[in-house]
Amino acid sequence: MLDDTINSSFVKEPRAMNNHFTYIANWKMNWSFQQTMAFAITHKNALISMSNTHTTIGLAASPLTLQSLAQLYNTTPIKIFAQDSAAQQPGAYTGDVAAAHLAAINCNGSLIGHSERRRYHHETNELVQAKMQQLLACNLLPVICIGETLEQRNKDETLVVLEQQLSNVFSCAAAQSEPTHNIIAYEPVWAIGTGLVPTIEQLIEVFSWLSKACASQPGTWTLLYGGSVTAANASTLKGIDQLGGFLIGGASLDFQEFEKIVKCQIVV
Ligand code: 13P
Repeated sequence: MLDDTINSSFVKEPRAMNNHFTYIANWKMNWSFQQTMAFAITHKNALISMSNTHTTIGLAASPLTLQSLAQLYNTTPIKIFAQDSAAQQPGAYTGDVAAAHLAAINCNGSLIGHSERRRYHHETNELVQAKMQQLLACNLLPVICIGETLEQRNKDETLVVLEQQLSNVFSCAAAQSEPTHNIIAYEPVWAIGTGLVPTIEQLIEVFSWLSKACASQPGTWTLLYGGSVTAANASTLKGIDQLGGFLIGGASLDFQEFEKIVKCQIVV
């Protein structure tokens, strides 16, 4: 659960304003329980030592592992995330995991709307909104993934697509009785797992637009980039003003690579 202490360690403003970076490893469905825990135990101290007032580390793992990870990292600054959570309250929804049940095992939040879920499970913007609502109702941090396909990018529809995806997200934020903290992860579908990364100009366009769009909404917003982030491109990407961190897939499965991404200096 996000108590005030935990919540306050996440970036509340664009990075340029407080120089804070959040790095979330998305391990997807790569590892078994045993493999996940072996990584988490082996690198526990190193991950903790990488966390500081300017750096927050999060791990988004298989639901099988969340309780053990939350126990292992209890009282440490490392945040534990699910990769998805249900759009409904606990009840007759076979195979889903309720936000309330994530909160009960001390998860900090969940990814929602990842493009792999939109693609393989046909998740809509409305469904993502319902998932966000459930997370916020349980005081959990939503990490909402958005991004355009290559076809949409080529048709110059990127900002239109992002606007549609965000419209439901902003409705949800506006419906809360108290302002909430939310993370948006911009992950172009064509950059995920492909080795392709948008140009800096393309990213500046998107992140300037995102940052303005979020600034007019209630709550606080952290903006992450995801899609083929590696140690080789991280320092350049870190130079983007409104960027508040990364959501890292493949490269997060290799501890040395992940550590280099976290520790590399900004190149502008
Ligand atoms: P890759 O870093 O493997 O491209 O994956 C990005 C991603 O989907 C993170 O959620």
